[in-house]
Amino acid sequence: MADDVHGPVHEPVHGPVHVPEPEAVHVPGIVKPLPAAWFVPHDTNAEMRWDALRDADGGAAIGLHVPVERFFVRNHTRTPLIDPGTWRLRLFGTGLRGAPSADRPVEFSLDDLKALPRTRIDALIECAGNGRSYYASRQHQRVPGTPWALGGIGSASWYGVRLADVLREAGLGPAAVDLLPAGLDPHYVVGGTDYGPVRRPLPVAKALDDVLLAYGMNGEPLTPDHGAPARLVVPGWVGIASIKWLGSIEVADRPLSSPWNTDFYRMFGPGHPPGGGAPLTAQVPKCAFELAEGAVLAAGRTHRLHGRAWSGEAAVHRVEVSDDGGRTWRSAELHDEPRAHEWTRWSIDWRPGRPGRYELCARATDRRGGTQPRSAEFNREGYLFGAVVAHPVTVAAPPAPAGDRA
Ligand code: MTE
Repeated sequence: MADDVHGPVHEPVHGPVHVPEPEAVHVPGIVKPLPAAWFVPHDTNAEMRWDALRDADGGAAIGLHVPVERFFVRNHTRTPLIDPGTWRLRLFGTGLRGAPSADRPVEFSLDDLKALPRTRIDALIECAGNGRSYYASRQHQRVPGTPWALGGIGSASWYGVRLADVLREAGLGPAAVDLLPAGLDPHYVVGGTDYGPVRRPLPVAKALDDVLLAYGMNGEPLTPDHGAPARLVVPGWVGIASIKWLGSIEVADRPLSSPWNTDFYRMFGPGHPPGGGAPLTAQVPKCAFELAEGAVLAAGRTHRLHGRAWSGEAAVHRVEVSDDGGRTWRSAELHDEPRAHEWTRWSIDWRPGRPGRYELCARATDRRGGTQPRSAEFNREGYLFGAVVAHPVTVAAPPAPAGDRA
C-alpha cells in the first residue's frame, strides 16, 4: 500500500487532524490568529502553507475549500473593523440612471442586500503575485513585492448577491462602461505617495457576468480579515479585483482608472509595451504539491503524492508529474470533476528506487489548452508566475530493521 507523504518521514508535522502548535506568526493589521504551522508571514500578509493541507501519516486532508481560519490574507494596509449595522454600500456615477453624485448616492444596508436573491458560488481567490519568489529563486530575476511561494491562494464557497442584481436595483443605465469598487481600509501609502483607498476598475461586462457581492464564506458571515461586512468575488481574475470591505462603487459611462490598473497589476519591462501591458485579468494555470519542500521519503517504498491544480478561467483537466526535473511525465489521477474557478485535487503513486535528491514537478493543463511552461515570462513586478515549480525532496535509504542495528 502507498504511504501518504507530507513532510520529513521522521518528524511529526501538523495537519488538519492535529491541534496547531501554540507558536503563532505576527502580522501587523491581521485580526485572526496565525498559527506558524499554517501560515508564513510577509509584511502585512499571511501566506497559506501547502504542507499544512495534509496530515503526515493518515493522509487526512483539508477538503475542497480552505477553512476561514486557514485562508491566506493579502492586505495592502490593515484589516478594518466595520460595524455591519451602520455600514452602507454607496453607488453613484454617470452610468446609473439620474447620475447620482458621490454625496447623494444610492445606498444599500446589509439588510437591503440580504433581501435580494441569495446566491452561492465556489471560487478561488489568488493573488497576482502568487509564486513571485520563484522569479528570484528559480530564474535569478530580481523582482520587488511580496515573495509568495504558491500559498497566495485559497478556495471557498462564497454566498451573497449577484453584483448584477445590485447594479440593476441601483438603476444601471445602458451607457455604463466601468465600475470603480473601493475598499474602506486605510489609504495605501508607500514611499511618501498616498495612492488613496484600494480600488480597481472593473468592466461592466464582467460585473454583469459572474461577480458576486459576498457577505458570507464557507457557510458563515464574512470575518474581518476577508472583507466583512461585504466584498467582491471576481471568479478567475487576479485577487486584486475582489475588493474587500467594499464601501462604494462608482458606475461610469466612460473608462475609469486608478493606480491599481495603471501603476500596479499590469506587465512592465522588456517585451511589454512602454506604459505596461493591459490591466491583468485572468490567472494562469498552476499546480502545487501538498508536501513540504525538502521532505524526506524512504527509498524502495510507494508513496502517494497529493496536490491541487488550478487555472484562471478554464477547468484543469490534466495533471502530469515528473520525477526527473521535467524530462518525462506521468498522468496523475484527478479527484474532482474539473470545474472552472475551482482547483482540481490530484494524486499519483511514486516509488523512488535509489536514495538521493530528486526534483518533483507537476504540470497543469486546462480545458482551453493553457499549460505551464518551463520558465515564466519576466515582468518587472513579478506577476503571474506560471512556470512549473520543481519541488525538491530527498529520498533516504529505508531505516534498517531493529535487529540489524549496531
Ligand atoms: N481589498 C481591499 N480593500 N484591500 C486590499 O488590500 N487586497 C486584494 C483583494 N482585495 C485587498 C482587497 C488582494 S491583492 C487579494 S489577493 C485579495 O483581496 C485577498 O483576499 P483575502 O485576504 O481574503 O485572501
